[in-house]
Amino acid sequence: MPEGNHFSGRRALITGGAKRLGRETARLLAGRGVHLAIHYNTSRAPAEELCRELGAAGVRAVPLSGDLGKPREVETLFQEAWASMDGLDFLVNNASIFPPDRLDEMELTHLLENLRVNAWAPFLLTRAFWRRLRGTQERGAVVNLLDTRLVGGDLAHASYHLSKAMLKELTTLTALEFAPELQVNGVAPGAVLPPENEEDAYLEKLTAELPLERRGYPGDITEATVYLLGTSFVTGQIIFVDGGRHLRLGGST
Ligand SMILES: NC(=O)c1ccc[n+]([C@@H]2O[C@H](COP(=O)([O-])OP(=O)(O)OC[C@H]3O[C@@H](n4cnc5c(N)ncnc54)[C@H](OP(=O)(O)O)[C@@H]3O)[C@@H](O)[C@H]2O)c1
Repeated sequence: MPEGNHFSGRRALITGGAKRLGRETARLLAGRGVHLAIHYNTSRAPAEELCRELGAAGVRAVPLSGDLGKPREVETLFQEAWASMDGLDFLVNNASIFPPDRLDEMELTHLLENLRVNAWAPFLLTRAFWRRLRGTQERGAVVNLLDTRLVGGDLAHASYHLSKAMLKELTTLTALEFAPELQVNGVAPGAVLPPENEEDAYLEKLTAELPLERRGYPGDITEATVYLLGTSFVTGQIIFVDGGRHLRLGGST
């Protein structure tokens, strides 16, 4: 890795960047001098507020809206991000939906909604990024936010699980197909923030089952994301940042 702050002056698009893990990733990158396109869907005010905060900290930060369930808006988002940042170096596919459904009640329309937002939109953004870099000497890095529940499944969120499984496969395929222009990696978080309708007790219950017997924090996830954006010799990898959960559920007890 080059010496010094090789992030300074780079440009990133973070989807779903207005709140929670997306916002913490933005703050960490901004602290390293990265200019940011902060995508939001419904969280306009938090996105604008974050951009003011990041701007005051010395980087360029632009809020950009778009419903990732609508492919045309995904294409427009990428074009706007590229134009407003004058090019891009990094893409963080962070936005996601996490609605409950079990196989017993699973509907095709619901499955497709999960696939659109959680897998197809990240793919469209990654491909648009690669198409911009193809034939140039420029390089880019993509991180896809996955989920520790790729291992063991998530029967209470079946459509979500299937969409993240598709994104995991796309991480591998795009890493190969879109090299050398793009590095594409994944971070598979364990629960570090409870869903918006749950309390912290939700996390404490899960912590007891972890090999490391400690809870994780947003910084654990964002540090992994930033590592993968900054390295120049890693692609097609998935880092599980989950207290070891995937090891136990993978059968290594
Ligand atoms: N939090 C955790 O503990 C955890 C655990 C495992 C995996 N992960 C993964 O890590 C990532 C970040 O987690 P998080 O909990 O911070 O995410 P989150 O709060 O559930 O969602 C992030 C953002 O996604 C955006 N989004 C949802 N539907 C959208 C749509 N149709 N179009 C555009 N944007 C849409 C929302 O933006 P608006 O608010 O602007 O509408 C939302 O703020 C996700 O991919 C998640 O699956 C998180």
